[in-house]
Amino acid sequence: MNNLAYDAALQGEAPSESEVAAMSTLRPVPRISIQAFCETEGVAGPIERAADDRRMSKTHLKVHMGGIATAIDFYHSAPTPNLIVLESRDEPRQLIAALKQLAEVCDPNSKVIVIGHYNDVWLYRELIRFGISEYVVAPISMADIVAVISAIFVDPEAAPIGRSFAFIGAKGGVGSSTIAHNIAWSMSSLFSSEVVVADLDLAFGTANINFDQDPAQGIAEAVFAPERIDEVYLDRLLAQCAEHLSLLAAPSTLERVYDFDPEAFSQIIETAQRTAPAVVLDVPHIWSGWSKTTLTQADEIVITATPELANLRNAKNLIDMLRKLRPNDGPPKLIVNQAGMPKRPEISPADFAEPLGIAPMAVIPFDPQLFGNSANNGRMLGEMDAQHAIVQTVNEIAHVLTGRSEIKTKKKVGLGDLIARLKRKKRM
Ligand SMILES: Nc1ncnc2c1ncn2[C@@H]1O[C@H](COP(=O)(O)OP(=O)(O)OP(=O)(O)O)[C@@H](O)[C@H]1O
Ligand SMILES: [Mg+2]
Repeated sequence: MNNLAYDAALQGEAPSESEVAAMSTLRPVPRISIQAFCETEGVAGPIERAADDRRMSKTHLKVHMGGIATAIDFYHSAPTPNLIVLESRDEPRQLIAALKQLAEVCDPNSKVIVIGHYNDVWLYRELIRFGISEYVVAPISMADIVAVISAIFVDPEAAPIGRSFAFIGAKGGVGSSTIAHNIAWSMSSLFSSEVVVADLDLAFGTANINFDQDPAQGIAEAVFAPERIDEVYLDRLLAQCAEHLSLLAAPSTLERVYDFDPEAFSQIIETAQRTAPAVVLDVPHIWSGWSKTTLTQADEIVITATPELANLRNAKNLIDMLRKLRPNDGPPKLIVNQAGMPKRPEISPADFAEPLGIAPMAVIPFDPQLFGNSANNGRMLGEMDAQHAIVQTVNEIAHVLTGRSEIKTKKKVGLGDLIARLKRKKRM
């Protein structure tokens, strides 16, 4: 018996045999962030113990005291996690009114579990109609908590929880990988939400250099042994780069050649999407069966281009082709990078955007000092200089790509505009 179980047993809180049996069939919960707001110790205690259960070891769970009012206060300034657990002793109508207030400061993608003190069918129906994932009546046990969370996030029939973001350059060397890694890092640190970066440039990938990692295993093990891929195997291939960021590194060696089938990466990407809310795909600048499939299947595509003619031609071809391949999705997003390089004749952002029919979501200036220092030190831009304007732009892109509500953004001049524009686009 471990210490916790022993303590719990001493306090008469050990799970019963039937609970242990019920829990033994549960699968590990993916890398989600969870915040609980409790009004009573009777509910906070089991949630805290659930956090120590092995099935919850990948989650980031924090318990706050104070119910929905505290949550409303909290999310006025903090990003919302993947799951919010709320305890409330309010009577049914009060509870619904409080949840409506909370909805105004929460990301609509966050899931919510309510632990109430009223066993009331009307309330249950209203809550489910309101989009609450589950309503549980107190008292609850640790096993109840783990079971409810895994019912929501581990259901094999459920769609994967993670969104995939594929980054590709319109030409080689335009900075697509650097931008992908930095946006991934921003997503993970800004929102304390798990991100997996997959380096699909097996021969020459630079994610290992940029994140200062040298793992013995990585993405190659997965693509060369697709029959072994599951969440447990994926875990062994991931290298932890930051608190909420892990990397499926490329071998970056030439011992083998990398001529894959079109679907070669599909399974590892899907598995990654089952374990983390965001999966960033660093796709090399090539057009092959597998790069085409990977881009076609991604939830979002970000094309990085520098403002010159060959980039414009290639970006146009990529955008037109991807629009055809993904008729029911929005067009790829565009980032213009290395703008304002001294002495280089450039196409202005407006002239660049016009033939593409897409306004760039950001224009990142050429800054060899910031990028050079960051690359040479194996650090992210935000670790070098968190206040730098380029870092702020990268943060803004992370907000927009993850669909974070405007309200959460520490606004800089121009960002409100950018988000409003993108929102208008989304609605169209
Ligand atoms: N805005 C910028 N200003 C200055 N240097 C930059 C900028 N963006 C990227 N770089 C530098 O450009 C180089 C190429 O970047 P990166 O490897 O990310 O490009 P890529 O498009 O992924 O290239 P590849 O085609 O090799 O995959 C790196 O040294 C990077 O630090
Ligand atoms: Mg690259």
